[in-house]
Amino acid sequence: MPIPDPKRYTVTAALIYANGPIHIGHLAGCYIPADIYVRYLRSRGKEVAFISGTDEHGVPITIRAKKEGLTPQQVVDKYYAQIDTAFKELGISFDIYSRTSKAVHHETSQEIFKDLYDKNVFVEETTEQYFDETAEQFLADRYIVGTCPVCANPNAYGDQCERCGSTLSPLELKDPRSMLSGAKPILKATKNWYLPLDTMQPDIENYINSHNEWKTNVFGQCQSWLKDGLKPRAMTRDLDWGISVPLPDTDGKVLYVWFEAPIGYISATKDWLIQKNGTDEGWKKWWQPTAPDEETKLVHFIGKDNIVFHCIIFPAMLMAEGNYILPDNVPANEFMNLEGDKISTSRNWAVWLHEYLEELPDKQDVLRYVLTANAPETKDSEFTWKDFQTRNNSELVGIYGNFINRAIVLTQKFCESKVPARGTLQEIDEIALKDLAEFPARIAESLETYRFREALTLIMDLARSGNKYLAETQPWHAIKTDPERVNTILNIALQISATLSIVSEPVLPFTAAKIQGQLGMINKTWEYAGNQDLLSAGQPILEAKLLFEKIEDHVIEKQIQKLHDAKRMNELEGKTVAAIKPEIQYDDFGKMDIRVATIVAAENVPKSKKLLKLLVDIGLEQRTVLSGISEHFSAEEVIGKKVLYLANLAPRKMMGLESHGMILMAEDRDGSLAFVQPGKEVWNGGTVN
Ligand code: 2FM
Ligand code: ZN
Repeated sequence: MPIPDPKRYTVTAALIYANGPIHIGHLAGCYIPADIYVRYLRSRGKEVAFISGTDEHGVPITIRAKKEGLTPQQVVDKYYAQIDTAFKELGISFDIYSRTSKAVHHETSQEIFKDLYDKNVFVEETTEQYFDETAEQFLADRYIVGTCPVCANPNAYGDQCERCGSTLSPLELKDPRSMLSGAKPILKATKNWYLPLDTMQPDIENYINSHNEWKTNVFGQCQSWLKDGLKPRAMTRDLDWGISVPLPDTDGKVLYVWFEAPIGYISATKDWLIQKNGTDEGWKKWWQPTAPDEETKLVHFIGKDNIVFHCIIFPAMLMAEGNYILPDNVPANEFMNLEGDKISTSRNWAVWLHEYLEELPDKQDVLRYVLTANAPETKDSEFTWKDFQTRNNSELVGIYGNFINRAIVLTQKFCESKVPARGTLQEIDEIALKDLAEFPARIAESLETYRFREALTLIMDLARSGNKYLAETQPWHAIKTDPERVNTILNIALQISATLSIVSEPVLPFTAAKIQGQLGMINKTWEYAGNQDLLSAGQPILEAKLLFEKIEDHVIEKQIQKLHDAKRMNELEGKTVAAIKPEIQYDDFGKMDIRVATIVAAENVPKSKKLLKLLVDIGLEQRTVLSGISEHFSAEEVIGKKVLYLANLAPRKMMGLESHGMILMAEDRDGSLAFVQPGKEVWNGGTVN
């Protein structure tokens, strides 16, 4: 069985901006794979620091604050709390979930900046940068948008084009405009400190080239940047939200968020130790191990939009500092799409984790399972609610849950709720035990090489093989003639279940805990997986509980509907209420004779797309009204409606028919119509004053 070499691992998961909630794309791209990897390492007895937290500086935060009418501090406090809770509930087992607003992070970032400055790493340069004269502010990164010079996307940001993935600097954008005021910015001189990636290129190239084992998508992206030639990148910004530059006369300047955010992994490690031991002593073994036996492996889990920062810029900083280990691997994933469209926070096209946890309680493992089975490991992938339902119903309920449940229920029924002893083995038993012994190593190999989808397929194959074993040995028939045989069969089925719980724990931790509770397993880590005597004969088995339940169509339909509703509301957000018309006098209003009436008959007007011909009862008589509502209502559905009716409007001819009066309608934000109706069953002819 391949055993990962180093004994210690520093595993990080991207410090997400605290400017919005977590969605399934973040989970599939970064957090679930990271958690699977870490849980596996822990099960193998490795020493692991699983580090993450929120990135609380940078333009994304201030833009969100402006949008929500909050201060940047209020924004990060709100989303930190929400994200931290949601991760915990999903079972993401961080050792620390820190924040870049903490003092320890400010200090660590400033120390590293100062250290690099003292080592003359930075190039100090005064350049012209875009400035918004209305907002009186320099426009860094996402404060500026314009046309991408690479793919012509008209909405590329100053630091990155989200369409083609190019990293940009504001001056490269065509037709730049300010995100703050929409104005065309002017150029103004300002001093900044640059990391000279151009002169560092040979060292970075050596480093990247020594890692051709990295995932193809990651290695390929790095090569394409290297091929284009690296350019110096400013490590400071003229902004008022962030960590101040620790140099004299730098008022109004802060550290570039992509300089300090990855340092957040280091300061979060210190924060973890401070919270645990009251001091950060010992942090260096995670980042600067010295003695030869102190080997530590650094692995960054991220989404593909963060590759350049983790594979090139952060390693360049660490190399320049000189004492740090470099990332050993950066297993970045591609993106996950949702129901045929890109996930988008701004368009509200997402499944939000905090809402999922609330609306589908106790289904954490279902989400973990589906997002792993569908993970965008080598190319973009797709989440659909239908697929979620199918995977739950046919795979988790039908295969995995079904096997474990049968093994336990049959043991209760035929073996007095105790693990029976194996008797003489038949060929089919030998094969089942051999398979059982071999699966864990195969699964381990997939997990160690970051192929989590493949690992999950193998886990399900093990469950399938358990089902097949029961189907072929048929203990429910054998019990009638050969109870000894049943003991052997159920012993083997239970041993498979026990191993299944260990090897699936990284992906399905809640389920594994339930199984281990039912089988009476305590502290059974990876080394026991595949062992044919993992459970001892005579050991009691607790009552079987269902691990997964079927998800009905209406649950899924509700989620799909919710997604479309949210998107629609978002599209309408920009719509404003119509301005009030010029003032009128009471007499003007008094001239209108508005009555309560009932529509008693309705039919389509031939050849008209819009008109319905209505017959309304207005108490005194019945009148014909032509109403332009047939795109909103069918003739059948309006019959019997109580309405308000303008009775003294001069008759009008339309499509050769005469219309008398008018039905009052209210128009909703999306252009849909609603009848204006009295609040109670008022009689026809009742006046409206
Ligand atoms: O993309 C993001 O949300 C960034 N805040 C990720 C930063 S990862 C690390 F560098 F801290
Ligand atoms: Zn582009």
